[in-house]
Amino acid sequence: MNNQIPLDQVLHGDCLEILPHIPSGSVDLIFADPPYNLQLRRELWRTELSKVVGVDHEWDRFSSLSEYDEFTRKWLAECQRCLKDSGTIWVIGSYHNIFRIGSILQDLGYWILNDVIWIKHNPLPNLRGTRFCNAHETIIWAKKCDNDKKYTFHYQALKAGNEDRQMRSDWYFPICSGSERETRDGRTAHPTQKPEGVLRRIISASSNPGDVVMDPFCGTGTTAAVAKALNRRYITMDKEEAYVGLAEKRLAAVSPELMNEPLSILESRRPKVPFINIIESGLLLPGATLRLKSKQKVLAIIHGDATISALGHRGSIHKVGALCLGTPTCNGWINWYYTDEASGDEMLIDCLRSVRF
Ligand SMILES: C[S@@+](CC[C@H](N)C(=O)[O-])C[C@H]1O[C@@H](n2cnc3c(N)ncnc32)[C@H](O)[C@@H]1O
Repeated sequence: MNNQIPLDQVLHGDCLEILPHIPSGSVDLIFADPPYNLQLRRELWRTELSKVVGVDHEWDRFSSLSEYDEFTRKWLAECQRCLKDSGTIWVIGSYHNIFRIGSILQDLGYWILNDVIWIKHNPLPNLRGTRFCNAHETIIWAKKCDNDKKYTFHYQALKAGNEDRQMRSDWYFPICSGSERETRDGRTAHPTQKPEGVLRRIISASSNPGDVVMDPFCGTGTTAAVAKALNRRYITMDKEEAYVGLAEKRLAAVSPELMNEPLSILESRRPKVPFINIIESGLLLPGATLRLKSKQKVLAIIHGDATISALGHRGSIHKVGALCLGTPTCNGWINWYYTDEASGDEMLIDCLRSVRF
C-alpha cells in the first residue's frame, strides 16, 4: 500500500501494519471498537441450553495485560498521528479494557472531552448470578491533544433533536439485534456488532458531511456503513478476511441519505428565545435602558413585561426598533445595545441569547 488515503474501501490486514501508511493529519474523526481482551475462561450457556455467542476468538486473545497495553499504545499512537489537529477520537470498551485505554490515551497526550455511558435496554443477564448484570459500555471521546484547535461538535443540532435540552452523556440504546444484526448461514456473523444508533449519534455529533471517518477495527463495518449513509468518507480495516467480505457486502447495500440540510446550517440557526426570557432570568432588569445601533441618541426603557418604550412608542424590541428607525421591519436583537455592567461596554442584546440559551 502506498501513502495515498485509501478512502471508501475495506482494507484487509492488521491495523498495526496498515495505519503507518495513512498520511499524517488526514482524518477528521476516529471511532475504534478494539479487542476487549475479555479473557473468557469458560463457555456460557443460557438456561434454555443455548450457547452464548461470546468473544473467544483469536483476535481477542492476548497473552498478558502488558501485551494488550503494548498493542493499545501502538494503534492509539498511530491514530493520533493520522488525526487532523482539530480531530477527535471515540473509543468504546467495557470494564475489561476501558480503564487501560483511558490511561494510555492520557499518557499519549490526547485530551479527554467526555466519557459517554451507553446503557443497554436489553443487556445479557449475568448467567451465573455471581455479579451485577453488566448493562453498559463506556465510550471515551478525546481530542488529538490539548491544543486550541476547534473540534467539531454540533451542540445546537443535538439539543434541537433532544427536545431542546442539552444532550447528556448517558445514552440509551438496545444492543444490536433483529434485522440490524449481520448473519452468515443463518447465524450471528460477528460477536460484537455495535448498534447503528450509537454510531449515528457519534458521527453526526462530531463530524461534517464530506469528512473522513476512520475505524481501525471494522468488524461488520458498522462505522463505515453509518459514515456512508451520512455522506462522510471512510477508511476501515480488519485482520479477519471473513469480516472484510461481510463489511463489503453490507456497505454495497448502503445509499447515502438525502439530507435536506447539513447539520452546520441547522447549528447556525439559533433557538428562538423570546425577549421575556432575558428579563425573567435577570440578564436585563426593568428600568434599564437600550440604545439603537445607528441612532445613539434614542434611548429605550425596558418594562417589566418585556416591552420597551422610546420616542413615545411602546411594544416589542422589533416593533419599537422599526418605529424609531422609520423602517418597515427591524430585528431588535441586532439593533439594540445594552451597557455591560462589568466592562462598561456597549453590547448587542443578541449576545445575551448566546450566553444563556
Ligand atoms: C470489537 S470488534 C469490532 C466490531 C465492529 N465495531 C462492528 O460493529 O461490527 C473488533 C474487530 O477488530 C478486528 N481486529 C482485531 N485485532 C485487529 C488488528 N490488529 N487489526 C485489525 N483488525 C483487528 C477483529 O477481527 C474484530 O472484527
